Amino acid sequence: MAFVACGDQAPRAPRPIAKLWKDEGCATCHGSGAEGTRLAPDLRDKASNWTRETLLSYLKDPTGYARKDERLRAQMKGYSQAMPTYKMLSPAELELLVEHVLSLRP
Ligand code: HEC
Repeated sequence: MAFVACGDQAPRAPRPIAKLWKDEGCATCHGSGAEGTRLAPDLRDKASNWTRETLLSYLKDPTGYARKDERLRAQMKGYSQAMPTYKMLSPAELELLVEHVLSLRP
């Protein structure tokens, strides 16, 4: 049965960033160009607040992270729904999202 378990755990190829952005709802809340909507902030001016490491931990636990971050806590008051967790995504897909957000510019 070892082979079956092995097959089940074979990593999927990461989805391309454009597909991830749509499939995972980033586009719905943050906008297709990350320009912000009524539901979530503009992400194009945020890179200076993050490093790869902090952004990765944020995507895995946004609510927990925001509790310790005054800027995020204050910003959250303007939105009706919290930023969801993405800890279920593969490390490769999380990495693509991190790189994408850090590359955004106004
Ligand atoms: C249900 C709506 C929703 C979805 C879906 C969503 N977000 Fe968010 N996101 C938010 C809200 C609301 C905030 C503001 C949270 C805060 O300020 O504490 C936020 C904050 C963020 C921030 C921090 C912004 C800052 O001010 O530094 C990043 C980065 C981010 N989201 C990335 C993403 C990515 C990437 C995806 C898709 C994988 C995504 N979000 C999906 C609602 C959403």
